[in-house]
Amino acid sequence: MTKIIAVVNQKGGVGKTTTTINLATAFSTIGKKILIIDFDPQGNATTGLGIIDKTKMSGSYDVLIGKVPLQYAYLRTNIPNLYILPANVHLSGAEIELVSLNHRESLLKNALNGINNFDYIFIDCPPSLGLLTLNALVATNSVLIPLQCEFYALEGLSQILATLNQVRKNLNPTIELQGIVLTMFDARSNLNTQVAADVRLHLKDKVYQTQIPRNIRLAEAPSFGKPAVIYDLKCYGSQSYLQLAKEILTQEGVFHEGETAA
Ligand SMILES: Nc1ncnc2c1ncn2[C@@H]1O[C@H](COP(=O)(O)OP(=O)(O)OP(=O)(O)O)[C@@H](O)[C@H]1O
Ligand SMILES: [Mg+2]
Repeated sequence: MTKIIAVVNQKGGVGKTTTTINLATAFSTIGKKILIIDFDPQGNATTGLGIIDKTKMSGSYDVLIGKVPLQYAYLRTNIPNLYILPANVHLSGAEIELVSLNHRESLLKNALNGINNFDYIFIDCPPSLGLLTLNALVATNSVLIPLQCEFYALEGLSQILATLNQVRKNLNPTIELQGIVLTMFDARSNLNTQVAADVRLHLKDKVYQTQIPRNIRLAEAPSFGKPAVIYDLKCYGSQSYLQLAKEILTQEGVFHEGETAA
């Protein structure tokens, strides 16, 4: 069975892509077969994995509109067990193009129907709650929310959770909240610390214990076309993502408390 996890937050630059790439890589190192769907027209997950020329290849847009079956569009990456369905420029027009189509919110779900050769599929969503994200929410089993502990974080979070409830009611009754991960955390910032405490108070065990620190190595890695956990495994940021992967895999029942990653 393939489990799909959509990485969602309508706010830009909160760590969706960094979280997707590093978690997916961490999962792949324990032998899980992983697909990343780059569902953001910016294509950051694609470039972050070292895929440069995105113009000629088929991508998530072609799969979304049913032009190319998924099996013919995803690419192998340099990392064993990790595959990517790249984003290309056509995806940027999709939000508008899709508006006039029937079943416009179920296109991705239909495209992924019958796909069972991956253990996990991560969908890296764009920074909006538009039709692309809606397609991801309809197709997915669960939602992972990276949250930056800034002033408007809680308002933003309520908006995503309200959308999630709407989707559960109307379009995808089994969708779950996988969890919330606090990103770019700076323990010296009073605001970060206060907001983190607030989020934990309200969302309790839905918030992962692991917090991702603000770490320059995480920001540098994409320019080398590598996930940070490959670019610099020892840095604090990479170690935090490995810890998060372990926490999620424990939640999934794949890992058991006290076990160590390979
Ligand atoms: N923990 C971190 N510490 C320092 N820099 C980070 C961290 N996480 C992400 N970054 C950097 O911050 C920027 C935004 O991160 P990222 O692209 O992952 O966010 P995003 O939510 O996917 O953005 P968008 O909404 O534009 O898709 C990037 O330049 C990234 O390299
Ligand atoms: Mg992104």
